[in-house]
Amino acid sequence: MWAGQQSNMKVLGKDELQVAEQVLLQHLPKSYKVYGFIHGINRNKPTTQQVVADSWPDFKVIICRPDPMKCTITNQMTMELTEDQLKVAEIELEKYLPRSQQMYGFVVLRNRVKSDPAQIFVDKWPHFSVVFCKPFCKQENDPFRIIFVFATNEAVLEETIRKSSLIDWTTYFGLGINNSHMEIFKKMVSEKNVPCRKISVCHRMRLEDISKLPPIDSSGISLSSLDESHIGLVSQTWKFVEHEGADGMIHRMISNFPSCCVLDADGRPVSWILTYNSCAMGMLYTLLEHRGKGYAKVLISSMAKRHHALGLPVYCFIEEENTTSYRLFTNLGFTEDPSYRKAWFEFN
Ligand SMILES: CC(C)(COP(=O)(O)OP(=O)(O)OC[C@H]1O[C@@H](n2cnc3c(N)ncnc32)[C@H](O)[C@@H]1OP(=O)(O)O)[C@@H](O)C(=O)NCCC(=O)NCCS
Repeated sequence: MWAGQQSNMKVLGKDELQVAEQVLLQHLPKSYKVYGFIHGINRNKPTTQQVVADSWPDFKVIICRPDPMKCTITNQMTMELTEDQLKVAEIELEKYLPRSQQMYGFVVLRNRVKSDPAQIFVDKWPHFSVVFCKPFCKQENDPFRIIFVFATNEAVLEETIRKSSLIDWTTYFGLGINNSHMEIFKKMVSEKNVPCRKISVCHRMRLEDISKLPPIDSSGISLSSLDESHIGLVSQTWKFVEHEGADGMIHRMISNFPSCCVLDADGRPVSWILTYNSCAMGMLYTLLEHRGKGYAKVLISSMAKRHHALGLPVYCFIEEENTTSYRLFTNLGFTEDPSYRKAWFEFN
């Protein structure tokens, strides 16, 4: 079910649930989860969930989500979202675009591709003010040890960080955050006397309307996807490769998410672009001897169309000092909110 594209959902009543059960029965086994759930409700099984559909009676999307009237909020500072709650979170985060872009992108991809194990926490449910995305990491310096944060309320963000145990201040971690929230972390850093280093500050560039892409001539250019044999090539040229887990991260990106490359006459990639787990396009690179041939333009345009066709957001982050890349994306129709900056920091 492609639930994320729906935002105005109708809550089904008692009679409608009887009808929905019959409709879903005809779509077994695909519908078995929701069917089973509704089957239970219709036989008076107690629940704190509600069933919503995109339209009625001819629905295309039907999902179960926590009923705000019945949902008890936990005493803890945060709660981890389940797979079903992540589908609802996607719809909620969409309402906060573009501010929620990175968290939204992560949840969208996570709801469609099971690749990187990660935990998503919220301060409360279902009306959250703070969302934390905390990936599982196997290695000490894994670049996936980067926590993303989205917050609509700074006071709640500060309280959540202080009172929850989401952040382990004694060990290494990275943080991707709206630059405007950084004061909170700076305060904590000085209180806890933890070393902190800025990795980069970026423009967030979005292509809101795919039809804004200018026509690009890709005739004579051989395009393909990257495969596992290209991990070393991509990793050698990636700016942040000093992180020990870079190869593992690139491996997961190539294996699970869209990528695109230009091949030379011998079938070797000379220019490429990947997709991060937050759905941002990135790691764009053209080998020196192949620059200025229009390869990057072709790749960005091709990936943008692919993301769009898959229902994925089309966006990227560009470091403030990378004026070439900024111009490249701007000329292709990408725009930014000039007051917004995404910042990455490392602690410990
Ligand atoms: C940025 C980069 C990917 C561009 O690759 P490329 O294949 O040479 O780019 P293209 O040939 O498609 O050029 C696209 C446009 O950028 C311009 N451009 C490319 N390199 C340029 C440079 N060094 N200085 C000024 N303009 C440049 C081109 O003239 C072209 O402009 P046009 O559309 O007006 O003709 C490449 O320079 C690179 O790998 N840089 C290092 C990694 C990097 O910065 N990646 C981007 C991270 S967001």
